[in-house]
Amino acid sequence: MGLTRVPGLLFGGDYNPEQWPEEVWAEDVRLMAEAGVNMATVAVFSWSRLEPEPGAYDFGWLDRVLDLLHVHGVAADLATATATPPPWLVRAHPEMMPVNADGVRLEFGSRQGYCPSSPVYREHATRLATVMAERYGEHPALAMWHIGNEYADHTLECFCPESAAHFRRWLQARYGEIGALNAAWGTSCWGQHYTGFAQVEPPRTAPGPVNPAQLLDWRRFCSDALLELFQAEKAALRAVTPDVPVTTNFMSILHGLDYWTWAAAEDLVSDDAYPDPADPTSHVAVALSYDLMRSLKRRPWLLLESAPSAVSWREVNAPKPPGVMRLHSLQALAHGSDGVMFFQWRQAKYGPEKFHSAMLPHGGTRTRGWQDTLRLGRDLRNLAEVAGADTTAQVALVLDWESWWGLEAPESMPSNRLKLKELLLAWYAPLHARGISVDLTPPGRDLSPYRVVIAPNLYLCTEEQAKALASFDGELIVGPFSGVVTRDDQIHDGGAPGPLKDLLGVAVDEFWPLTGPQDTTMGRAGTWAEWLRLIDAEPIAHYLGGDLDGRPAITRKGRATYVSCLLDDVTPVLDLVLDGVDRVDVPMGVEAVRRGGFLFLLNHTTAPQPVTLPSGGTDLLTGTPMRGEIALPARDAVVLRIEGEQ
Ligand code: GLA
Repeated sequence: MGLTRVPGLLFGGDYNPEQWPEEVWAEDVRLMAEAGVNMATVAVFSWSRLEPEPGAYDFGWLDRVLDLLHVHGVAADLATATATPPPWLVRAHPEMMPVNADGVRLEFGSRQGYCPSSPVYREHATRLATVMAERYGEHPALAMWHIGNEYADHTLECFCPESAAHFRRWLQARYGEIGALNAAWGTSCWGQHYTGFAQVEPPRTAPGPVNPAQLLDWRRFCSDALLELFQAEKAALRAVTPDVPVTTNFMSILHGLDYWTWAAAEDLVSDDAYPDPADPTSHVAVALSYDLMRSLKRRPWLLLESAPSAVSWREVNAPKPPGVMRLHSLQALAHGSDGVMFFQWRQAKYGPEKFHSAMLPHGGTRTRGWQDTLRLGRDLRNLAEVAGADTTAQVALVLDWESWWGLEAPESMPSNRLKLKELLLAWYAPLHARGISVDLTPPGRDLSPYRVVIAPNLYLCTEEQAKALASFDGELIVGPFSGVVTRDDQIHDGGAPGPLKDLLGVAVDEFWPLTGPQDTTMGRAGTWAEWLRLIDAEPIAHYLGGDLDGRPAITRKGRATYVSCLLDDVTPVLDLVLDGVDRVDVPMGVEAVRRGGFLFLLNHTTAPQPVTLPSGGTDLLTGTPMRGEIALPARDAVVLRIEGEQ
């Protein structure tokens, strides 16, 4: 069963017909059909056009759009249209606009203008979701619901009185009584002892550093508050259209929202990914986020937005050179997407995104961009059999949002230079370069499918999480500054690595953040080191030179490895644990990804590269049988249906 009832791979993009006169729509759908587009995301920002006055709906135009799409074989990822509340609602309820940490209420004129805790917004958004479901639930074009849009893109948090009240309700549900909050937040420090929940406020701008436990709960609350909005709309849709899948488009590896929790509330995971064409390594970071998307439900997902060429929101918006849009699209499929969708179908004539690329550029069908769109459409038809194929990974990276929030709390850490995405990437990049499939996992999930589990950092680690890691029967690597605090951001008794101490057989006497390089016998470290004390682990690498000279840097106890520093290159550590793990050897800059019975080979370099195929097969893109050594052209790809695996 695919992600939706549409067979094969999904292909299309955001379609904003309300920005165009109706005469243009006929050309749109004709060209969509020509390109093989089979899905369009519609009505994302359409609330003010669907309900221009309170309760007075204007659905005629959307009816005609959906009919037209359907007739031309294009299904709809239909939005609930709630991503921008209309001016009449905001003017009637100015208190629903978000307020920033300095107490400034933001103005209408952009998008996502709502306080996540606003009862007015919630009531009207769920009402609109119900109305949309009632109107379009039976429409033959409807394939899936698109709730909101990129939650937390512009509005992650709000500090207004309504949000404060919501935060207090959330805290009361978590702690029951104020004494428990005082204990969890350590309010004996700096004289913050509360005698009632009414005294507690969101972490607005304060004279000095804000209580980090309060900040951690605020991060939890903000993720939950937006999720409540999603859930409210989902419930409204479910009541009318119980069988139509729902999603909301994620924003790759996003700090603000705990996507493990969010994904559990969705029927299918979808993602928006915008690797920077000006960064020659961006395909590695984006592969990591694609692997997260696949891991969220351990099944295929959908790339719901990407850029055909340049975006419009970086300082410099580089275009994608020839071949790169196709290559990046195939890369998403390699990592488990069941389609390729773009922002957007027709390039805008006005507004903040008029310079953002589109499948159909300003210059129309004579452009390079349109030729790319046509070519990708053909490719996706040739790759239809890839839809639904699962990925098997033997290596997993641990990612935990609460720990991430704790780690990157501003102002009170030994070093502000530990950034979780960079720590993940430091391990992911060399695995990716070796053609090793990687899943991401929360620490508490069943780890038995894996041979190797790596926790690049687990600053916040609970007893239960430590138990889950200890029961893992494989090679475990734990990175530095792990097992430091409890779920309340309080230092574990006896210090780091807290509940991981028995498992790792070491104690950290002192954190040793670095301002310059520090050598070890397994390579150079930067940013971070630790003064380790061995309990019953064996040292396998030592610090060389400086104040830590001769002290243990990397240790092993049984099959648990602890790395107390941030190595510039973790390859020597990986070499210790990767025996027997499936890999595909390819030259630098070529990406090799197995998905089911298919092998994707993607040449991200600007020169042809020799690749020895691990087995024979047929390239689905060209229909050519292949075996042995091939020359993979620059920025080109092969998708091999591996012989004997079907
Ligand atoms: C996000 C939004 C889209 C559009 C694109 C532009 O992904 O969801 O509406 O603004 O960015 O890159």
